[in-house]
Amino acid sequence: MITGKVAMVTGGSRGIGLAIARALAGQGARVAITATSDDRLKQAEAELVAAVGSAAVLRVRADVRRYGDVEQALAAVVGRFGGLDILVNNAGVGIFRPVAEMALEEWHTTIDTNLTGVFHACRAALPHLRARGGGWIINISSLSGKHPFADAAAYCASKAALNAFSDALMQEVRQENIRVACVMPGSVRTGFSGRASGGDEWKLSPDDVAQVVRDLVAYPSRSLPSAVEIRSSRPPRKG
Ligand SMILES: NC(=O)c1ccc[n+]([C@@H]2O[C@H](COP(=O)([O-])OP(=O)(O)OC[C@H]3O[C@@H](n4cnc5c(N)ncnc54)[C@H](OP(=O)(O)O)[C@@H]3O)[C@@H](O)[C@H]2O)c1
Repeated sequence: MITGKVAMVTGGSRGIGLAIARALAGQGARVAITATSDDRLKQAEAELVAAVGSAAVLRVRADVRRYGDVEQALAAVVGRFGGLDILVNNAGVGIFRPVAEMALEEWHTTIDTNLTGVFHACRAALPHLRARGGGWIINISSLSGKHPFADAAAYCASKAALNAFSDALMQEVRQENIRVACVMPGSVRTGFSGRASGGDEWKLSPDDVAQVVRDLVAYPSRSLPSAVEIRSSRPPRKG
């Protein structure tokens, strides 16, 4: 169903973004991945190329906080693959600290990446999606946008704002056959926020989130699951 479609996944070098890139490429899409650090990006590219071949994979170093980077990344994608059909805004950071201890720079990094970065990519991608007569924008938010918790004010606020942004944009562009969906995972087993693995077998796998994205883009054009919550079915009991 998405064979030959073109997808760009921000933060596609590891974790959830790489799993999404893998899933979309596995469905026949041509996939571009972006991130800020080249080493992981190259490793991810090599993994994808080994799975689906070099003709369907592109890596672009781009910081979503910089509008020029995002524009250039999209230009590279369109130059290589001829257009854009699916934008997955996955790049995100988590800096978990009490408000009184949070550095100003940490606050700005969080908001600039998780919220402004999504605005940048959507703004720059919309002309390309319109040129194709429609497409998908899928924003990877978090359940913490709906259920804030202590020592995570910046992160929770960035994701709550992203939920509102997604909903508003969805209403803005759906008549143009551009479908906007917001995916809100609970805890996922990745190295997010410098987390070490171990003792987290109960968490979602990145592939679980990727499956949501893969399923979303397979929906018939008359329908739009615009918000999806996905959580671990068996988290540890509290107390
Ligand atoms: N893991 C969880 O429990 C969980 C739960 C709910 C939602 N989420 C959301 O899922 C998304 C992915 O999380 P993850 O767990 O897969 O994290 P991750 O393993 O840390 O991966 C984050 C990705 O984003 C990229 N990135 C970070 N800052 C960027 C920037 N300024 N510009 C471009 N790329 C950037 C990273 O590459 P570079 O560092 O090289 O830039 C990396 O590819 C995030 O939006 C996160 O908020 C995660």
